[in-house]
Amino acid sequence: EEEESESSVESKPEEAPAPERVEAAAGTATAHLPPAPPGAGDQSPVPSGPPSTPAPPSAPPTAASTLARPPVKPAVFIPVNRSPEMQEERLKLPILSEEQVIMEAVAEHPIVIVCGETGSGKTTQVPQFLYEAGYSSDNSIIGVTEPRRVAAVAMSQRVAKEMNLSQRVVSYQIRYEGNVTEETRIKFMTDGVLLKEIQKDFLLRKYKVVIIDEAHERSVYTDILIGLLSRIVCLREKRHLPLKLLIMSATLRVEDFTQNQRLFAQPPLVIKVESRQFPVTVHFNKRTPLEDYSGECFRKVCKIHRALPAGGILVFLTGQAEVHALCRRLRRAFPLAKPRPPDKDDQEDSVEEMRKFKKSRVRARKTQTRTLPLINLDSYSVLPVGEADEDREAEMDEEEEALGSDLDLDLGDDEADRGEQPDASLPLHVLPLYSLLAPERQAQVFQPPPEGTRLCVVATNVAETSLTIPGIKYVVDCGKVKKRHYDRVTGVSSFRVTWVSQASADQRAGRAGRTEPGHCYRLYSSAVFGDFEKFPPPEITRRPVEDLILQMKALNIEKVINFPFPTPPSVEALIAAEELLIALGALEAPPKTERVKQLQRSRLSCPITALGRTMATFPVAPRYAKMLALSRQHGCLPYAITIVAAMTVRELFEELDRPAASDEELTKLKGRRARVAQMKRIWAGQGASRKLGDLMVLLGAVGSCEYAGCSPQFCEANGLRYKAIMEIRRLRGQLTTAVNAVCPEAGLFVDPKMQPPSESQVTYLRQIVTAGLGDHLARRVQSEDLLDDKWKNAYKTPLLDDPVFIHPSSVLFKELPEFVVYQEIVETTKMYMKGVSTVEVQWIPVLLPSYCQFDKPLEEPPPTYCPEKGRVLCHRASVFYRVGWPLPAVQVD
Ligand code: CDP
Ligand code: MG
Repeated sequence: EEEESESSVESKPEEAPAPERVEAAAGTATAHLPPAPPGAGDQSPVPSGPPSTPAPPSAPPTAASTLARPPVKPAVFIPVNRSPEMQEERLKLPILSEEQVIMEAVAEHPIVIVCGETGSGKTTQVPQFLYEAGYSSDNSIIGVTEPRRVAAVAMSQRVAKEMNLSQRVVSYQIRYEGNVTEETRIKFMTDGVLLKEIQKDFLLRKYKVVIIDEAHERSVYTDILIGLLSRIVCLREKRHLPLKLLIMSATLRVEDFTQNQRLFAQPPLVIKVESRQFPVTVHFNKRTPLEDYSGECFRKVCKIHRALPAGGILVFLTGQAEVHALCRRLRRAFPLAKPRPPDKDDQEDSVEEMRKFKKSRVRARKTQTRTLPLINLDSYSVLPVGEADEDREAEMDEEEEALGSDLDLDLGDDEADRGEQPDASLPLHVLPLYSLLAPERQAQVFQPPPEGTRLCVVATNVAETSLTIPGIKYVVDCGKVKKRHYDRVTGVSSFRVTWVSQASADQRAGRAGRTEPGHCYRLYSSAVFGDFEKFPPPEITRRPVEDLILQMKALNIEKVINFPFPTPPSVEALIAAEELLIALGALEAPPKTERVKQLQRSRLSCPITALGRTMATFPVAPRYAKMLALSRQHGCLPYAITIVAAMTVRELFEELDRPAASDEELTKLKGRRARVAQMKRIWAGQGASRKLGDLMVLLGAVGSCEYAGCSPQFCEANGLRYKAIMEIRRLRGQLTTAVNAVCPEAGLFVDPKMQPPSESQVTYLRQIVTAGLGDHLARRVQSEDLLDDKWKNAYKTPLLDDPVFIHPSSVLFKELPEFVVYQEIVETTKMYMKGVSTVEVQWIPVLLPSYCQFDKPLEEPPPTYCPEKGRVLCHRASVFYRVGWPLPAVQVD
């Protein structure tokens, strides 16, 4: 038995409720909305009028605000016709007894924070309280933001059902879709959607109340929204159009909001909702399984299911791929129905499709022109503000999205299961739950499991606080979470699996004690738990901020450094972001002389350019947005969109470098590696296209996969990850929509089976990529510079002192071009550049002037490309980087 039984503790997931229920002093009351006592007025309208009594006896005493005061405003009450069953269920929720307190607080304060355990009813009930109290009268809307799409959709459905209203009235809007109508009164949306609405109407006039839900998640967009809304509330006050802001959090840790003078001059009122939480016994493992936590989860679920009394099981894993893999294993072990035979392998067909693609490319190459002009850096589309419909989505969801593409446990999973025999015990009703699951399938977790089965939900941390699944008695917590990790040195983010915080682990445990006493099995030791961070750091401190800064500048917030962030990003992060955006041309450069010192301090206030506004409408990182903005020329858009989509979706190729368990597997792996390497060479092509390097491989892989109808068999045969291919397809569609919004005359449509680019188009694409990845330029160390052997075949980048190398998986690994741009640097045994593409030296002063030092002012005459001479005309350009480049300068002309 690997449990550390001695460390089993009766733990309440959150600290015991503080005795005081209302923490900030109530301000002077001016209005008093009618209390809607729990359960009252559900069947018949309650006559509106001043409440003569304070809170119902069940409601606890509150701060000064409950003292009966004459109402100033005529009271409103919008009746809701709920079903008796629904009403009965609602009455069980702890938040119902706080309705009076919350509504009075909202009436009297512009900003209120509601804290309460997950499952206490905040998300589903508070919008209903506000609706009944008339906050959606006069055609205004109650807005609720969620950091995750899955919550926005599920909650709108739930609330509509509880209120017996259609989804035309209680609606949702997320990045890809929504069902908002003229009649919408309660609108659930992702925080990214509201941010976009602020760009269109800064005062958010159509809302009387905005609820920021799940504020404890501290997602970047939530933080920014709170900062913006703190100002919008003041502006609305001045215009006598008061806006109420409610911030809802599952933890009590709200000092970043309440103790932040710059954010809220007056600390907002904090209301704590007490929850009925049953005790949860926490069992730690004796050892911490470091590698195979997924397998450990499997064994634990089997044990619980075979030995322990009825009650749902909730498993926390880190990503979509893992969730699916575990679901499959569990279904195989405890089947509900007969398993499906595996699909037939039709590799042969896909190889044929590949040949077709290759042939068509050769044809295209024969017909192309042989000119080699330069792209025009000033030719980009400029969008009038507020016209793009595309919504920037919550970072949270991007994470979820990338989860599938990141860590795929599907392989090898079958091997592990070979010994598992289907079990004779009770069938297990296994359901996956993660952010991007189709809404119908998400909704399944709220349904009672079929008769005679036990519910087992395998979830990512979306089940930690956003969604409460009924009937869970056992929680299995792997203790890990997948998070985007930002490397300060290379500026590259990646997804990493790390330990959760103590607060998150306790939240997860708490899911077991919703309806009766429960158990939480932690697959790690109590010693390891003791080393966890107390709370997860806010997202904004963990990631690069250039995309945020661009969004904020698009909102005309110029002095980003003065923005009331709940937790500000570091000044270095802000400066790095601003510098990159200036170099990309998204922000106006400050006058040269002031650059160095003053930029460091208060002058982080460069205004956005027209190009920057266009870039801000594309839902990708600024480097990639720049590429899109430049690609309108020469028919490059479809290709640039595909390359950007493929670069955004990480790891198109399967990981084949993994260690093999047996000789047989090793032979198999070697064969596949060779095949993939061969395909990469084919996709990279010859001549110009080969110089586009790994990005040409991406283009070729996606193109030929589309030719082959994107079959899973084609992907499997060629080492492509099917899920990545599907994501790229979706992202291409989305980016095409975004580009069409910027320049409708382009009239782009998604043609998955695009023709291969011509040779000159490939050259333009190389230039476009150079312009976007300008800060990721690397130059091969020349033989005369060789300091010692460690620099052999090495490259030098401006940011790193150490040598970097082209990754062996790159098609340019052996070619060693002099100048390259790279997508990212990964560190394994050495620092390797991935996603490499070659750069012609003469492009550098033209395409990347901001990275060059010129010995005469750049303006007169600007560097130009002279087709007759086939080279760039400019002054002697001491090309390189102002950051300091220890190699001899390159002379151009
Ligand atoms: O927001 P908070 O975590 O405080 O709670 P909530 O999401 O409003 O959930 C309140 C209750 O409604 C929980 O007990 C959920 O299980 C239940 N619920 C449900 O049964 N079906 C849904 N689709 C959503 C919530
Ligand atoms: Mg909630």
